Amino acid sequence: MKTVCLIPGDGIGQEVIPAAAELLRLVAPGVEFVDAEAGFACFERCGQALPEATLEAARGAQAVLFGATSSPSTIVPGYRSPILALRREFDLYANLRPASSLPGEFSRPGIDLLIVRENTEGLYSGREHREGNTAIAERVITRTGSERIVRAACEQARLRAERLGRPPRLTVVHKANVLKLTDGLFRECALRVAAEFPEIAVEELLVDAAAMQLVRAPERIDVLVTTNLFGDILSDEASALVGGLGVASSANLGGGTPVFEPVHGSAPDIAGQGRANPTGALLSAALLLEHLDEARAAASLRAAVLGALTDGVRTADLGGRATTRQFTAAVAARLN
Ligand code: NAI
Ligand code: MG
Repeated sequence: MKTVCLIPGDGIGQEVIPAAAELLRLVAPGVEFVDAEAGFACFERCGQALPEATLEAARGAQAVLFGATSSPSTIVPGYRSPILALRREFDLYANLRPASSLPGEFSRPGIDLLIVRENTEGLYSGREHREGNTAIAERVITRTGSERIVRAACEQARLRAERLGRPPRLTVVHKANVLKLTDGLFRECALRVAAEFPEIAVEELLVDAAAMQLVRAPERIDVLVTTNLFGDILSDEASALVGGLGVASSANLGGGTPVFEPVHGSAPDIAGQGRANPTGALLSAALLLEHLDEARAAASLRAAVLGALTDGVRTADLGGRATTRQFTAAVAARLN
C-alpha cells in the first residue's frame, strides 16, 4: 500500500492541501492518506513547529504533500521553519521547480523549463552571526553538495529529453566572477559532472544575466541548475511568467521521503477567504503521483487542471472569480 502524508500547515495551506487531497483520492483510490500537523499555529498550540509524530508519519510514508507554513522574520525562540527542517531531516537536496506555459492570457506561451535548486547549503546553511553592528552570513558550498545537485539536474535533463523528444540542455547559473571561491567550486563541480553526460549541451550564465534571460527568452531554457538562494529567487521569477505563485509546483528529492509542495507561502493576506488558487498544490500532487509511479493518475489530474483553465475557470489571482472550492470542483468534473 502506498501512503501519502498530508501536511497542510498554516494559512492557505489549510485550503489548498484539502483541495489537492480531495482530487488525489479520486484519481488514486489505491493510495492511503495520513494527516499530520506542522507550522506556526501548531507551534503556538503545542510548542513544536514540526512535532515528532509528524516526522514519524512522514518517515512511514512514500511521499509528503506539504502546504505552507508561516515563518516570522524575527527570531522566535524554539521556532524553526518546518519545511527547512524536513529538507534537512530527509536530506532533500534537490528542489525541482518546473515552470510550463498554461492555457490562458495570464501565461506566456512556449515555456517549458525546470529549475533545479540546491536545497541544503549555500546562503541557507543557517550560519549567521552578529559582531556588534555587523551581521555576517556564511555561504557554504561543498564539492559533495555541488556534484550531487548537478548530477540530479543532468538526470532530469535526460528524462525530459526522452519525454519531450528534444536534445537536452543544461544552464549552469552562478556568480563565480565575484564569489570566486564558493561559486568557483560550484562551477568547477558542475562542469565536471556535466561532462559525464556528453549528450547534454551545457551553457553557463552569471546569475544577473540569468535573471534577465528568464524574462527575455525563457523559451530557450530547458534545465537550469543553481545554488540555494539563486534558485529560490529565479524560480519565483520563472513562476511569474506562467501565472505566478498560485500555479507554481515543486518537488524536494534526496535521501528520505520526498516532499512535494506548492512554491507559495501561507499568504496571510488572503488566508481563510476561500480565494487561494489550488493550482500549485494540484500540480505538486501530480508530480507526487508521477513519483509514486501513478503516471495515469498524474496525467489525468494535470489534464483536468489544464482543462479547467482552458475553459476559463480562474481564481482571483489569475483575474477570475472562482473560489478555491469552485476551481477544485471544476477540476474534479474534468477528471477521467
Ligand atoms: P506568499 O507566497 O505567502 O504570498 C505572496 C503573495 O502571493 C501574496 O499576495 C499572496 O496572496 C499571493 N499568493 C500566494 N499563493 C497564492 C495562491 N495559491 N493563490 C492566490 N494568491 C496567492 O509569500 P509571502 O507573503 O512572502 O509569505 C507569507 C508567509 O509564508 C511568510 O510567513 C513566509 O515565511 C511563508 N512562506 C512559507 C513558505 C513555505 O512554507 N514553503 C514559502 C514562502 C513563504
Ligand atoms: Mg521562495
